[in-house]
Amino acid sequence: MNIEKTLEKKVKVAWSCPSNIAIIKYWGKHAKQIPCNASISLTLSNSSTRVEADLVEKTTTDSVQLAYYFEEKRNLDFERRVTQFLEDNILYFPYLTDYGLVIHSINTFPHSAGIASSASAFGAIALALLELSYSHRGQIIDGEFYELASYLARLGSGSASRSLFPGFVLWGENENKRNSSNLHAVPIASIHPNFQAMKDAILIVEDQPKKVSSSVGHALMNNHPFAKQRFQQADARVSVLMDVLKNGDWDKFIAICESEALTLHAMMMTSKEYYLLMKPGTLQIIEKLFAFREQSKIPVCFTLDAGPNVHVLYPASYQVEVERFIKENLTDSYKKAIFDMQGNGPQKLL
Ligand code: DP6
Repeated sequence: MNIEKTLEKKVKVAWSCPSNIAIIKYWGKHAKQIPCNASISLTLSNSSTRVEADLVEKTTTDSVQLAYYFEEKRNLDFERRVTQFLEDNILYFPYLTDYGLVIHSINTFPHSAGIASSASAFGAIALALLELSYSHRGQIIDGEFYELASYLARLGSGSASRSLFPGFVLWGENENKRNSSNLHAVPIASIHPNFQAMKDAILIVEDQPKKVSSSVGHALMNNHPFAKQRFQQADARVSVLMDVLKNGDWDKFIAICESEALTLHAMMMTSKEYYLLMKPGTLQIIEKLFAFREQSKIPVCFTLDAGPNVHVLYPASYQVEVERFIKENLTDSYKKAIFDMQGNGPQKLL
């Protein structure tokens, strides 16, 4: 190896990548992380993962030599998952043949928050490692960089593909969106002012790791009795939601968003090995939210990811009223709240 040349190249990079909350859910996948239906999410602002990646001298003959630290502690479980991801995609990271890799990551949300962090983590990892590839090839970061980072993040965790872009993001082929793809996500442009500056209050009902992982949940969609109808429904809803996001219809947004959350959990409850992730607190929050919306006429709704925590979505213009409602009426049902909002996407830190 030509040492003089490598010294010119970057050996340390850092990125921050936000989490996202799906409005239309990805639940069920084919081989190679191809989704069974398209999904749409909202990229968040405060809930993010920061990753610093350093290239170091390689001391083993392993194809990938990685040490992964989460909040300053070596995390061997995640290290194995990331090592597998890097080995499977070594083509994109050729410098890993010559260098060892040390990754330090932290989450900006409390680690016991019960928020899925694989989306923001794989988003940040993909960005950092791709920047190293670009730097080693003398390429500059351009629009295609984010598309490729989304492609790579998807191979780590499907929902991560959507965290690479700000605002509302589509992942999966849809006939109404020309550049849509199963391989990477794309941002959705021309969002009606009603849906700009959306707020998301994440109410943590349970902060323990869930009993059934998302990977197991995805797998249970194979041979699920309602799989075919579910995938068709989600794809049809993607087309409707894209219109709704353009024309600003809050009632339709609420109907799709809440039905998606309940349908996701209905899939879990009706799979061959059925299970429940909602808790009493989840249902209490949902019922009180229905009553508050009915009485106040404020456009506010909920969604759930694969867990018991509730995301309350509302426009910034009703921030005071909704947050007062949450603090005065829901505190018995959740352990902590994270007040987040629509975000601007990843950030390069070094
Ligand atoms: C319910 O992206 O965590 O949050 O691809 O196996 O890593 P893997 O799954 P993951 O699944 C996310 C499921 C979901 C819905 C969504 O984000 O669309």
